[in-house]
Amino acid sequence: MSKFIHHGEDKKTYVKNMFNDISRRYDLFNTISSFGVDRYWRFSLVRKFNLNQSDYLLDIATGTGDVVFSMYKKFKNRLVGLDIADKMIDLAKLKQVKKGLKDQDISFIQGDGEDLGFSDNSFHGLTISFGFRNLGNYDKGLSEFYRVLKPGGKIAILEFSKPKVGWFIPLFRFYFNRIVPLLGAMLSRKDAFLYLPESVDYFLSREDLSGKMKAIGFKKVEYSDYTFGIATIYTGIKS
Ligand SMILES: C[S@@+](CC[C@H](N)C(=O)[O-])C[C@H]1O[C@@H](n2cnc3c(N)ncnc32)[C@H](O)[C@@H]1O
Repeated sequence: MSKFIHHGEDKKTYVKNMFNDISRRYDLFNTISSFGVDRYWRFSLVRKFNLNQSDYLLDIATGTGDVVFSMYKKFKNRLVGLDIADKMIDLAKLKQVKKGLKDQDISFIQGDGEDLGFSDNSFHGLTISFGFRNLGNYDKGLSEFYRVLKPGGKIAILEFSKPKVGWFIPLFRFYFNRIVPLLGAMLSRKDAFLYLPESVDYFLSREDLSGKMKAIGFKKVEYSDYTFGIATIYTGIKS
């Protein structure tokens, strides 16, 4: 039985408050709990793109901005990072200042990925890393992503999946369902890290998410698994 809400406005409110509360420990928790592999997953997401300096990319659910900073490092292009949790955005802005990166290249804004305040056809690329699962309404999110992308623009979604490699599944389940919540409880809000494994259990299968992307209109929809299928990157092109 589920302990958390996995759809709708109440989920969105819960998720926003939770990420605000854990914001200061978010980066540390990620590095410890994933043994640093999270960086490799985000690096793989960046590698799905080939951008020019003038290209404009939107990173939804940007958190503390790591995808934005990696993209900028590689392409020196213009970027916007958007997140519903204002405290995550504050931390992203702080990192930007520390890195000495200019506001004309990178901006971080608070906002809802399901209701984007951008005009149609604004961006050459759109990313969302470990944020899609947290949306209240996946179809609403996907149609907004499609709307703000330019024709020919690329979307890439990095998200947790249920691993497929047989011998690895019980190990992963033990680690994710037992050890990760313990680590989380030590670092911040206990419920936040019970939410994490449950949200992955309730998340779409690879086929269902690819199907939704196709139904919204994305073409060339593909996905690839990483690290025994713990993480998956989905890509598609706006036709
Ligand atoms: C697990 S974090 C991922 C952060 C970052 N992308 C990363 O890879 O580390 C999920 C983020 O999604 C954000 N989020 C959840 N729902 C959102 C929504 N509807 N719109 C925008 N951001 C949202 C949360 O506030 C949180 O910062």
